[in-house]
Amino acid sequence: MQPQITVLDAGGQYCHLIARKVRELGVYAEVAPSETAASGLKGRKGIVISGGPSSVYDSGSPLIDPTLLASGIPLLGICYGQQLIAHLLGGVVQKGERGEYGFAQLDVTGPDTILRGVEGRQQVWMSHRDVVTEPPAGFEVLARTDTCAVAAMGSVARRLYGVQFHPEVAHTLCGRTILSNFVFDVCGCQQDWDPAGQVLAIEEHIRVVAGHRNVFFFVSGGVDSTVAYTLCLRALGPERVHGTYVDTGLMREGETEFVRSNFAALGAEAFAVEDAREQFLSALAGCTDPEQKRLVIGEKFVEVQERILESEHYLDGHWILGQGTIYPDTIESGGSAKADLIKTHHNRVAGIQKLIDQGRILEPLSSFYKDEVRTIGRELGLPAELLDRHPFPGPGLAIRCLCTETGGELKRVEEGWILPVHSVGVQGDSRTYRPVLALEEFPDSEETAAQLINCRVDVNRIVVAVGPGAPLAKLRVAPAYLTSARLDRLRQADAIVRRLSHGSGFDRSIWQFPVVLIPLGAGARPDSIVLRPIESVDGMTARAVRMPDDLLASMARELMQVDGVAGVFYDLTNKPPATIEWE
Ligand code: XMP
Repeated sequence: MQPQITVLDAGGQYCHLIARKVRELGVYAEVAPSETAASGLKGRKGIVISGGPSSVYDSGSPLIDPTLLASGIPLLGICYGQQLIAHLLGGVVQKGERGEYGFAQLDVTGPDTILRGVEGRQQVWMSHRDVVTEPPAGFEVLARTDTCAVAAMGSVARRLYGVQFHPEVAHTLCGRTILSNFVFDVCGCQQDWDPAGQVLAIEEHIRVVAGHRNVFFFVSGGVDSTVAYTLCLRALGPERVHGTYVDTGLMREGETEFVRSNFAALGAEAFAVEDAREQFLSALAGCTDPEQKRLVIGEKFVEVQERILESEHYLDGHWILGQGTIYPDTIESGGSAKADLIKTHHNRVAGIQKLIDQGRILEPLSSFYKDEVRTIGRELGLPAELLDRHPFPGPGLAIRCLCTETGGELKRVEEGWILPVHSVGVQGDSRTYRPVLALEEFPDSEETAAQLINCRVDVNRIVVAVGPGAPLAKLRVAPAYLTSARLDRLRQADAIVRRLSHGSGFDRSIWQFPVVLIPLGAGARPDSIVLRPIESVDGMTARAVRMPDDLLASMARELMQVDGVAGVFYDLTNKPPATIEWE
């Protein structure tokens, strides 16, 4: 299918999300490297240049074929994309010191084609360091925020536009209107795309890639691998699709039984459960660094996998490995050409990469987003109970059980306490790994929390102490590892949270609810629990959600009954600047 819109990838975390949002408008879009020659983009109705972690002043920063600017094809630059257009056409881009991350209020000053229907003040999402301070000659400033004088610019005559904020993320409420204005009004696209209509094409793709070979799956029980497995069952028949669920010991309570009963209902004929709990736990002993954990888990998966493949004679050239990898999995693993590595995804570690290089991996959903996968799942008739499950990461509870070799004391600061517990964040498309700021009380508003984090460069996450735990001054961080006792503690806490949030219906109002164990405690209670309910559309950006007070009070009370728990905290950080998972 010929894309009408191509998104040029300048390395941004949201690059594929732009294409996804355009597709959501019913217009087929694809992603291509930023330097793609104009000759390779003939026939496009419009081009979007994505954001990215670079500065236009860095050597080696992503460029575009400059002839595109005069080609007559409409162009929309987003974030870095806007800066690049300004830079290439003689405008001024200023290097930012600290940047702006999260919500901002947009004032539309020059209503125009791409901002039609977007009037007055608008909530938008920013994630940038540099800014355009002077648009190129012939461009008009279309919008501004308090800290960004050129939040949108355009040359109507040349059909060239730029926005500093991210219209593709869900938290830019007017984003869809802006993209729709660009795609339909400026570019003149026609609707030609519907993911539910892709089922037959995916099944055909599976048959082509598999050829004479059968497919073997390691299923997780999540939406993605189940939908991928079901597509393979339909495409190849149950006798050609085998599945094994590896019990890593890093899963949630009751998961193995849930998966077993689901696959029985799908009509899977060859489905097995492999108990590898001991193996994973001993491989992870002493491992404290998040990337190291992911590496160990990924490699262990491959090892267990290879053992099963060999023992079952799956290696004789008649079998390939199926995976439920979806688009964001490949992006945040640095899968997009220039994206900074935020986290290594378990589907992309070296061992798996080797299989990919050998052409022995089948990933039928690798170009779809989560909600597209759910749409496909519904089209396949899968039950809502399964499709509406919150996403759960492949490395499981391991990346929600924080470890440290050193520990340390809490440091008093004006706003609260700095916890010597590091977690992963993403700012301006780059990875951060920083301590956490703990407050003693909820800030008066969501905006206050966002401002607090934007004005501190030493932390990437804010939590608040809730419930009847020990006072922060009495707690410290002690060395802690991935032990079965700590994993059990986390599993128990996670089960309590799931039960209460399901019982109250709160789980239906959020996208995901990680429960995290951090080594913050005192004496016989060495750990604390962090609650991280978030709202998101695709996991690319997320908003921390406040739960009802009575639910929080009963949850905190029950969590304090878990053996070894010293305190309960609530994560108030959006993504960016934090990531959804702590590691
Ligand atoms: P982050 O923490 O990067 O998470 O904001 C975004 C989404 O991805 C999930 N996630 C993973 N899923 N394997 C997975 O299958 C992984 O290694 C992994 N790491 C993060 C996370 O739960 C969230 O939904």
